[in-house]
Amino acid sequence: MITGVTGQDGSYLAKLLLDKGYTVLGAARRSASVNLWRLDYLGIRDKVKLVPMELLEFTNICRVIQDNKPDEFYNLAAQSFVAASFEMPLYTADADAIAVARILEAIRHYSPETRFYQASTSEMFGKVQEVPQIESTPFYPRSPYGVAKLYGHWITVNYRESFGLHASSGILFNHESPLRGLEFVTRKITAGLANVKHGHRSHIELGNMDAKRDWGFAGDFVEGMWRMLQQDTSGDYVLSTNETHTVRKFVELAASALDMNIEWSGEGVDEVGTDTKTGKQVVTINPQFYRPAEVDLLIGNSEKAQTVLGWKRQMSFEGLVESMAKADNDRAVDSSVKN
Ligand code: NAP
Ligand code: GDD
Repeated sequence: MITGVTGQDGSYLAKLLLDKGYTVLGAARRSASVNLWRLDYLGIRDKVKLVPMELLEFTNICRVIQDNKPDEFYNLAAQSFVAASFEMPLYTADADAIAVARILEAIRHYSPETRFYQASTSEMFGKVQEVPQIESTPFYPRSPYGVAKLYGHWITVNYRESFGLHASSGILFNHESPLRGLEFVTRKITAGLANVKHGHRSHIELGNMDAKRDWGFAGDFVEGMWRMLQQDTSGDYVLSTNETHTVRKFVELAASALDMNIEWSGEGVDEVGTDTKTGKQVVTINPQFYRPAEVDLLIGNSEKAQTVLGWKRQMSFEGLVESMAKADNDRAVDSSVKN
């Protein structure tokens, strides 16, 4: 069972499990029209059995777990956009923190043999206390999202230690793909620049260009989630690429993959990126996209996952940016393609 099956990671994980011969129950929240474009993109829409599940509704979660008693339960559903968490901190706490306790309680009572995976995050390191970040690095979250996820992480550890559940927490650094939501900076850049290239818009507006992230490919990361649940004992694992790059660098590589060449001028809010091939200003700064508190630098060290799980990322940073830019170029050419 996968919560958040309609999201980026949920859809890649569903594909991975189906390819391994699993029966996949996709827990999706009720909606007049469930958002299935990613399952369509991966060609698995008809292979995933959708089960209605709302993170905020305890009775619903209990019934679904009692009825299905899944062998493995991957909790990927969340309000996952950091910027939005500053606008809706209470909803974020309910969906990203308390919901984890709801699920663990339901598993403890109705299906204690179920192996549980919690989608924890490098955002919990926030204002980083050491470089690079590993499993034992002290946490210092910098957003309501990071704070909520920290509760989700610790309640997972607590249910493992208190009740002996097979409950693992994956502390995942940023991972992206052509299926990434458009509000996250990577997809905003690749989709935005592809649309600039094809004349659908004049430019894109970004916030903090100096932020550094450890960006990997989502398809590689879901493999690590699965490996955690195949261990005899549960635990906590960092998954990362062990490299970090600025948002600015991401823009440069995405532009290059789209046959543009960005030259920077100005500083701070006056910084501008010009495409030297057309002479047009294609990137400007809008302070609206700055955050009340920023995570300036993330870089992980996934040595534990490499040693214990035998996990290693396959796709390079450059390959990731290129694949996202090319997918968005195709979408910009064929505007009938969804997302
Ligand atoms: P995503 O694309 O935003 O997907 C989030 C999923 O959660 C969607 O399927 C969404 O359903 C569902 N959801 C949201 N609120 C819900 C609710 N109240 N009840 C039921 N379902 C709800 O996120 P992602 O990038 O795949 O990330 C997966 C998980 O990993 C998240 O928990 C995220 O916080 C965590 N994480 C992500 C990264 C990353 O870099 N991607 C890194 C570390 C941790 P709808 O389709 O209906 O909106
Ligand atoms: N979204 C966005 N939009 N971010 C921008 C922009 C912009 O216009 N301009 C600069 N940024 C900067 C943000 O300030 C941040 O420092 C960085 O780009 C990455 O932002 P996001 O792509 O929104 O991701 P995130 O790092 O905040 O959060 C993602 O990764 C976490 C793991 O570290 C999400 O996937 C979280 O769910 C995940 O836990």
